[in-house]
Amino acid sequence: MIKPQITSQLQKLETPFYYYDLDLLRQTLSKIKEESERYGIHVHYAVKANANDDILRTIFDFGFGADCVSGNEISKAVQLRLPGSKIAFAGVGKTDKEINTALTNNIFSFNCESLPELEVINELASKMQRVAPVAIRINPNVDPKTHKYITTGLDENKFGINHWDFDKLSRLLKHLPNIKLTGIHFHIGSQITDINVFKELSEKVNTIAAWFEKQGLNLQHINVGGGLGIDYEQPEQNPFSDFTAYFKAFNDHLNLKSGQELHVELGRSVVGQCGHLITKVLYVKEGLKTKFLITDAGMTELIRPMLYQAEHKISNLSSQLALQTYDVVGPICESTDVFAKGIQLPESKRGDLLAIHSAGAYGEAMASGYNLRDMVKAFHSDQLLKHESLF
Ligand code: LLP
Repeated sequence: MIKPQITSQLQKLETPFYYYDLDLLRQTLSKIKEESERYGIHVHYAVKANANDDILRTIFDFGFGADCVSGNEISKAVQLRLPGSKIAFAGVGKTDKEINTALTNNIFSFNCESLPELEVINELASKMQRVAPVAIRINPNVDPKTHKYITTGLDENKFGINHWDFDKLSRLLKHLPNIKLTGIHFHIGSQITDINVFKELSEKVNTIAAWFEKQGLNLQHINVGGGLGIDYEQPEQNPFSDFTAYFKAFNDHLNLKSGQELHVELGRSVVGQCGHLITKVLYVKEGLKTKFLITDAGMTELIRPMLYQAEHKISNLSSQLALQTYDVVGPICESTDVFAKGIQLPESKRGDLLAIHSAGAYGEAMASGYNLRDMVKAFHSDQLLKHESLF
């Protein structure tokens, strides 16, 4: 829900742009903090979901760590004063340069995704005369029951080390002096709305952790990744994911040894609902079977509907007329540049402001300059409420 005093401010800004409600973000962070602290669970924010500086500052101010997937994400987190000891670093294709950045910043953990990567980290750490803390990312073959493009923990996916490599892994780990095994890591997918999936993951994790211990490989921490989904259909009614059930599922089903830490890496459920893409209607056009609302935002600003068939709720902030059926489409020269088909909106006209909701995660972060378009800008509630000088 965008507050009325904000709507009047939004109207003065050049579209398209992202609008972030930092109050909602802070409320979300408070809930996550309360629920995770109940069980002593460590939360890393998945920077890839939204790397906007003000969003990151707000999140780090709450004491959360970061889950990074590139050297630049690590550098950005460090630049915003996050200590390296709170940074986990995942990714199937870490470059030598990125590994060196991570080593220099003494990160918490390399979440290592393959046997050859382990050898490279060992070699680079040895050159710097350091010992790299490594958690093995494991592909547990658990179905997250989500879109196939955001499924990562099945045998056929490229992520993590699979069970058929475990014996080799155990032998290799004993021969790499510049690697210290500190934990195991999992991330099975994103936009997971069935809490039972996390229960199933926990049970797999228990079996795998027991195997490591049996090999004499001690695990200081277990990292179960991210994946908790948000409600795209009814964001106003459900602005917060069910953090209570999420953390409880791990607490109830994971067999942690005494002193063993549990880490999670949440992205979407932290920032998803606080962001809206604000766009103007450029033209209303009669199609063969439908009316098109052509907006000044397109797949360059928010690619989720085009890439994952995601359905983001859309509202018209300027009209309260009777409902009509529209296809809301962007201006890009691609037929897939469609935000929504056959949706009901108040009768809309050129110049009306539309808000595409639940766009805080993987929205701005996945924006591009295709068609030589300007990179999308972003504003947040603190700026709009406190700094009139913006206008
Ligand atoms: N940890 C790792 C290792 C990840 O790869 C991801 C997300 C996360 C944590 C955070 O997951 P979350 O809590 O946000 O579900 N662009 C797609 C989502 C890609 C997710 C990639 N990995 C989308 O817009 O739906």
